[in-house]
Amino acid sequence: MSRVTGRTAVLGILGDPVVQARSPQLLNDRMAELGFDGVLVPLHVPAEGLAAAVAGLRAIRSFRGVVVTMPHKQAIIPLLDELASEGAQVGACNIVRRDPDGRLVGSMFDGEGFVAGLRQSGHDVRGRRIFVAGAGGAASGIAFALGRHGAAALTLHNRGEARAAALAARVQAAWPAMAVTVGTATPAGHDIVINATSLGMKPDDALPLDITGLQPGMIAAEIIMQPETTAFLAAGQARGCILHYGQAMLAAQLDLMLAFLEIKRK
Ligand SMILES: NC(=O)c1ccc[n+]([C@@H]2O[C@H](COP(=O)([O-])OP(=O)(O)OC[C@H]3O[C@@H](n4cnc5c(N)ncnc54)[C@H](OP(=O)(O)O)[C@@H]3O)[C@@H](O)[C@H]2O)c1
Repeated sequence: MSRVTGRTAVLGILGDPVVQARSPQLLNDRMAELGFDGVLVPLHVPAEGLAAAVAGLRAIRSFRGVVVTMPHKQAIIPLLDELASEGAQVGACNIVRRDPDGRLVGSMFDGEGFVAGLRQSGHDVRGRRIFVAGAGGAASGIAFALGRHGAAALTLHNRGEARAAALAARVQAAWPAMAVTVGTATPAGHDIVINATSLGMKPDDALPLDITGLQPGMIAAEIIMQPETTAFLAAGQARGCILHYGQAMLAAQLDLMLAFLEIKRK
């Protein structure tokens, strides 16, 4: 990390807890690689302190921006001056930039990071039929990003079907050209199959979908980062799918966040 001086731009990660966050290491490393004079520090702020913390950040001229994590991704929205369409559609914000005039502008890069990570591996979502398991925060971001990037059809499958139906209705309203349905657990007939649940982190986790529906040539895409090869990806490999690992989403998202924060190579 670069040496902190009086000119160093200050960034933070705002959450409760923040001890588990990987952004401090990753973004500090990226800023150092870029030769950018900035430092990102953990800001452990409980829900009841959020408004005061955001008001304080607005007043700090050397403050460049903040990564937003649980439990603040929704609660921070009314405290901002502007929210980019990605965040407004999903109803969540995971990054805030402070402009020089003190305006706070938010955005949301979970879904955009996923699509960018796929593209960097040579896979475009445009015109493709896509199956998403999950309807939580990450799945919501991905679902809206798939519409934004021209996917032909989206099937959502979730343990809580009402949650999947509510998400499907919102995504369909935002992107009428994409055919959005709530499906069964089988991904048969799709081009890209995404695990966007939290299942797969623990060895005894259930599978997120019916793996007998995985077919040769499908792209099996994961968002879980640890372990690298989840049970879902192992099943995809055994059935001749092309694998796409969860790490790609985070790596691409970091690049998008740095661009949004206007942090570039010197
Ligand atoms: N690679 C990256 O850059 C990246 C970025 C963001 C998140 N992630 C990862 O994505 C995962 C999901 O995060 P999130 O923020 O979307 O979480 P979330 O909002 O809590 O959603 C969790 C999803 O998993 C489902 N689920 C959880 N436990 C289940 C179970 N036992 N059986 C069936 N379904 C279950 C939930 O279904 P219900 O609706 O039925 O509860 C829901 O669809 C996490 O592991 C997170 O670390 C990765």
